Amino acid sequence: MRTAYDLAIVTAVTVRVPAKLNLQLAVGPPRADGYHDLVTVFHAVSLFDEVTAEPAGRDGVTVTGEGADRVPAGQDNLALRAVTALRAARAGPAAGYAVDPGGVHITIAKRIPVAAGLAGGSADAAAALVACNDLWDAGLSQQKLLEVAARVGSDVAFALLGGTAVGRGRGERLTPALAPATRYHWVLAFADGHLSTPEVYAALDRLRAAEAGGPEGAGNRAPRGNRVKAGPPEPTLDAALMSALRSGDARLVGRALSNDLQPAALSLFPSLRKTLAAGLELGALGALVAGSGPTCVFLAAGADRALDLAVSMSGAGVCRSVARVTGPVPGAAVVRAAM
Ligand code: C5P
Repeated sequence: MRTAYDLAIVTAVTVRVPAKLNLQLAVGPPRADGYHDLVTVFHAVSLFDEVTAEPAGRDGVTVTGEGADRVPAGQDNLALRAVTALRAARAGPAAGYAVDPGGVHITIAKRIPVAAGLAGGSADAAAALVACNDLWDAGLSQQKLLEVAARVGSDVAFALLGGTAVGRGRGERLTPALAPATRYHWVLAFADGHLSTPEVYAALDRLRAAEAGGPEGAGNRAPRGNRVKAGPPEPTLDAALMSALRSGDARLVGRALSNDLQPAALSLFPSLRKTLAAGLELGALGALVAGSGPTCVFLAAGADRALDLAVSMSGAGVCRSVARVTGPVPGAAVVRAAM
């Protein structure tokens, strides 16, 4: 609940929210609801969007900055869906409120590229939850906000939490990872193009069906009754990655990075192979596609090596642009409240 601004009316709240990487992304078979069970290790990095919430006659959204024209402006916008979900949670019997807090205008200043595998849309939704919780003085606990976030999208809860955390279920069931306070230095290589998350998951299902000699399998030549139809294994947490994170040794972390979606992303965006290979040749400790891509992620041995790698990558002509970031960083947090 508000303390410092007890006597003032807050007119705008601005929240800063980080992009995420997946240090491991293990994907199970498709579920009946179309989602896939995951085991993933989320890691929040220092590439931030800023989201401002202000009272308005009715709900609306304005997007500025990196890739703004690709973000839906209407009720399909994930941040507005988060506002609607928070309003409903606030009006619920548990919260004890009946009065509608009124409309809200959300302004998103984007630095996290859109449809890049960095969960920028989920980040904006998480930021909208934190901003409106403060603007409306709604007082929802972090636990309650996490529950609302999980209903809005698979990655929204993690954007609230930040740090490094294991995600299960669709990715929304989180356990913070206990690890020493190591700061990792990453280089992100942004691609000249986009990938749609549902399309990448669908491509993975097709690749797996083909491998298992399923209906889409071009090489399905096994005699009838003798077909191998092993589905993908249930996803499990990578013990080598967790032990590397506990040791704080970037070299070990670099070796343990993994992403089941990577072959699918590469099948849809083949030039990423070159990007990954270039980063490894230039000395990265590890490389992988970020989430569903097409951003590529490289781990560097330290701040200086990250700078060298970023400069060399931008000179190599294998990506649109590069950014240096560090992680882990905290999740969505209020940076300004105007009165
Ligand atoms: O939950 P979110 O809206 O971020 O998910 C976007 C899409 O990604 C889903 O519609 C689904 O196609 C795919 N997805 C999935 N399994 C997950 C998370 C996402 O299949 N665990």
